[in-house]
Amino acid sequence: MKNLILIGNLKMNMDEKSIKPYLKGLKKISKTAKNSFGVCVPYVYLPLTQKVLKNSNVLYGVQNMNAASKGAYTGEISANMLKDFNTQLVIIGHSERRGYYAETNKSVNQKLLAAFENNLTPIMCVGETKEERDAKKAKTVIKKQIVEGLKNISCENIFKMFFAYEPVWAIGTGVSATSKDAQTICKYIKDVVMGLYNLNNSAQIKVLYGGSLNEKNANELLSQPNIDGGLIGGACLTVDAFKNIINTNIEGENE
Ligand code: PGA
Repeated sequence: MKNLILIGNLKMNMDEKSIKPYLKGLKKISKTAKNSFGVCVPYVYLPLTQKVLKNSNVLYGVQNMNAASKGAYTGEISANMLKDFNTQLVIIGHSERRGYYAETNKSVNQKLLAAFENNLTPIMCVGETKEERDAKKAKTVIKKQIVEGLKNISCENIFKMFFAYEPVWAIGTGVSATSKDAQTICKYIKDVVMGLYNLNNSAQIKVLYGGSLNEKNANELLSQPNIDGGLIGGACLTVDAFKNIINTNIEGENE
């Protein structure tokens, strides 16, 4: 069976009342889950998340962090603060961060370096907008995001992180990329990374697909040879829907 990883991104959803039973539900399903999975929560629920998910194999993390270790950065959270709550995952460079909060490939790079320094597992998001896609610039944009984002990142660390191909036009729209297009770009991401680091085997490079991944299209998308898992927004918000995605059973091996 293909070994998948499914990561939920709660974004700015839920409150204490709803997240508690949700996390308990995830802990429950982890006992019989067919694949690895995790959830990225809003910062303020990290202590609760740590408490509820204790003694389970559900991974957890957050959706952003600051690259600096401390200082006068009003409203920000550092990697070492995250480590106080045993955080494992951090999403970096989500298109909503790039779009609404002016994150750049350079800031993504600084955050990745800080994440590795603190033994966090980053999920680095890349992807093109609709305009870039229509102008046939998707690959050019994604290559630039990867090359600039991975500056000074060691090869050893490449194997510890996840890349997420998230076409901006597919996020939250209900329209995912076709499995063929998603496979093409996920393979392209692996090819670019292999080229950068002179690698000849892509198996250690993990690429997730994100963008309207749901219970209905999970099987088709996740069965693509170069898609190693998913980053899921809307469809992770109920335990039942997320569970169905988590338990996607794909025959074969990861490539
Ligand atoms: P979506 O979000 O599944 O709601 O499209 C995915 C993401 O933004 O990570």
